[in-house]
Amino acid sequence: MTDQPVLRVDHLTKDYGRGRGAFDITLAVGRGECYGFLGPNGAGKTTTIRHLMGFSKPNKGSSAILGRDCWRDAAILKNDIGYIPGEIELPAAMTGAGFLRMMEKMRGVTDHGRTARLVERFHLDPSVRVKKMSFGMKRKLAIVTALMHDPAVLILDEPSSGLDPMMQKEFIDCIAEEKSRGKTIFLSSHFFHEIDAACDRAAIIKEGHIVSEMDLKALKAKEGNGFDLEKYFLDFYREEAEGRTGDES
Ligand SMILES: Nc1ncnc2c1ncn2[C@@H]1O[C@H](COP(=O)(O)OP(=O)(O)OP(=O)(O)O)[C@@H](O)[C@H]1O
Ligand SMILES: [Mg+2]
Repeated sequence: MTDQPVLRVDHLTKDYGRGRGAFDITLAVGRGECYGFLGPNGAGKTTTIRHLMGFSKPNKGSSAILGRDCWRDAAILKNDIGYIPGEIELPAAMTGAGFLRMMEKMRGVTDHGRTARLVERFHLDPSVRVKKMSFGMKRKLAIVTALMHDPAVLILDEPSSGLDPMMQKEFIDCIAEEKSRGKTIFLSSHFFHEIDAACDRAAIIKEGHIVSEMDLKALKAKEGNGFDLEKYFLDFYREEAEGRTGDES
């Protein structure tokens, strides 16, 4: 990463008590880079992401996107960010098409062709009402909504969970295309193949702390075709757990 980072998290801390939250998170993501965020349930991924979206005010530290503070300038940053939340909540009574039209209007999208191409690419039937959509269909609607305004930064919280394997592959291809168009991507995922295929670097977060940051490109170059992110991650975890047991005894 040579340029100024597009996304920066600086000693960000949110303490929910009893060791829960996110603590002293520091990372930076450059233009055209995809940064993966891996970690077990409850590790602090969504907490960090909610700060990037300006939904939560940090106890300490800060985060910034495109040089603007994520909390203070959240409203200004909105149109520069495409966000897929971990838990998707959409207006139940609207049709997919109605929702997409409303979002296009809110964001001042004039290129309706882009939305139409995304709808087609992800095989979304926009005539269906949200309340009648399956989990995967809602996920597709969220994907189209996040990409419709062609934002510079994508913040994706487990974006492909619930997608069938074909759609998951389509999504990974789509992310790769956006990356090659210079988009900056922050991606939390439990899918190793997704992180492996999409990300240049990745962090492992555990109990609110970043415990490892990996340069996936460098690791692959070093380990060659035999590099197995899942094995690397699980071995890392095992060693961490064993190390901790050792300290406690
Ligand atoms: N608003 C809140 N109030 C209190 N505790 C919270 C709040 N939000 C999250 N937590 C706690 O903070 C910890 C981190 O939660 P977070 O949602 O960030 O995890 P995650 O890494 O996204 O997990 P998952 O993989 O299950 O999505 C958890 O212990 C959670 O219970
Ligand atoms: Mg989460």
